Amino acid sequence: MLGTMPHSAPSALSTNPLVRIRGDLGVERRATRRGPLPPGSKLPSIARTERMRRDPLAVLLPAYEKHGPIFAIRIFHAIQVFMLGPEANRFMLVTDREKFRWRDGSLGDLIPLIGDGLLTTDGEYHDRAREIMVPVFHRERIAAAASVMTDEAERALRGWRPGHRIDLYDWTRHVAMRVAMRALFGLDPDRARVDVAATFERGLSFYEREYFLQVVRGPGSPFARLRRVRRTLDQIILGEIARRRRAGEAGEDILGLLVEAEDGEGMRFTDEQVRDQALTLLFAGHDTTTSTVAFLFYELARHPDWAERLAAERHSVAGDGAPDAAQLFGQLPELAMAVDETLRLYPPAWIGPRRAAEDFEFGGYLVPAGLPVNYSSWASHRLPDVFEDPHSFRPQRFAPDQRAKLPKGAYVPFGGGPRICIGMRFGELEMRAIAAAILRSFRLDLEPDWQMRIRVRDSSA
Ligand code: HEM
Repeated sequence: MLGTMPHSAPSALSTNPLVRIRGDLGVERRATRRGPLPPGSKLPSIARTERMRRDPLAVLLPAYEKHGPIFAIRIFHAIQVFMLGPEANRFMLVTDREKFRWRDGSLGDLIPLIGDGLLTTDGEYHDRAREIMVPVFHRERIAAAASVMTDEAERALRGWRPGHRIDLYDWTRHVAMRVAMRALFGLDPDRARVDVAATFERGLSFYEREYFLQVVRGPGSPFARLRRVRRTLDQIILGEIARRRRAGEAGEDILGLLVEAEDGEGMRFTDEQVRDQALTLLFAGHDTTTSTVAFLFYELARHPDWAERLAAERHSVAGDGAPDAAQLFGQLPELAMAVDETLRLYPPAWIGPRRAAEDFEFGGYLVPAGLPVNYSSWASHRLPDVFEDPHSFRPQRFAPDQRAKLPKGAYVPFGGGPRICIGMRFGELEMRAIAAAILRSFRLDLEPDWQMRIRVRDSSA
């Protein structure tokens, strides 16, 4: 039977942060009546809230040392539970994942921009959608995007000259957005009437505004501009889907695959569902690959021996040409190790925000339903009792024999369990393709006295 995925749309959430704050305070009142919460500082503190925004490791690692793998601290107005370390990660991602919801955790804030895609839905609606989408991300399908990735990286490298100053984050973002336009939407970035990537980034900038500006509603407010961006994206993507349907050809890119994809019972997405899933992919793949490539070359600049090793490995596999998908996946083990180590030190989706869907117990504490609960790959990857010398760049730890010694759940840059990152292969291929293209001709240095500053957002994926 063929049909479209009819399931009741996920419940609407208020887009007003003040409503969320009121809800959180109500949950907290009920929760504290149930008994003691996990340990941690619960008095309101602007200093702690600010530190969490600027340098979360400086808050989370000392709290882990003091309280162990589960603690609860007040950030801004709300008590947030954090669960760190291999066992906690497995609990939240694998063994007890149904005790947590994504939609009314802080990922829900993204709904006005990306709608009801994999990142913002739960339960049957999510699982059916994921079943439809998994084949789209199979390794062979993704391999088709490798030439687009290499092509775009090499094109963007043409402007580089020895001695030039490059903002690598900015450069990679540009490459990744062009790859997304072509591989996701089949659009030629040089000819598209509206620049989807730039429009999307305008929408994203809403989330970088000061909190009080995000709360304001009404004409001329940042939220009204976000709505306008969403309407423009709607028109472009729904227009593109309609055009393909008229032409009778869905297309070979990811949008086309989503239009045609179906689950085991022949269920397909509606056009609006395709749109939300495509915007979700654009969001999820937007900053992740980009920042990892930038962090990788930051570490390679500090470890030139590794830069040389990776360049030599690339040369031995592809000579003066570019490695193809099979080589990128299977024949550059040292590059893969260096990328894995970069994702350990700087996992771009550094926090997994959830809400407890029911009461649960972990580490001897009861966490009542309704509280925000987070795992954090970033903090978990820096625990000294799990990773030796945790703050150092040591790709050897991902040599196969060493990697096998890691406890389950210790390394989770892509999450884990049934909701592990669906774009993992796509992201890995893209990072390796871009890195290989750079390594073919260039070695990068840091500017003298340059200090890295990491900006964090609380709902990246
Ligand atoms: C370096 C690259 C990437 C990293 C490190 C990364 C990381 C993650 C993580 C940690 C999660 C789980 C979040 C959680 O548990 O709260 C996730 C989910 C997801 N990622 Fe990625 N991601 C990357 C690239 C991509 C790309 C390129 C795409 C799309 C093309 C993508 C699409 C998604 C989607 C749709 C989900 C939600 C899956 C679900 O809930 O079923 N990601 N990603």
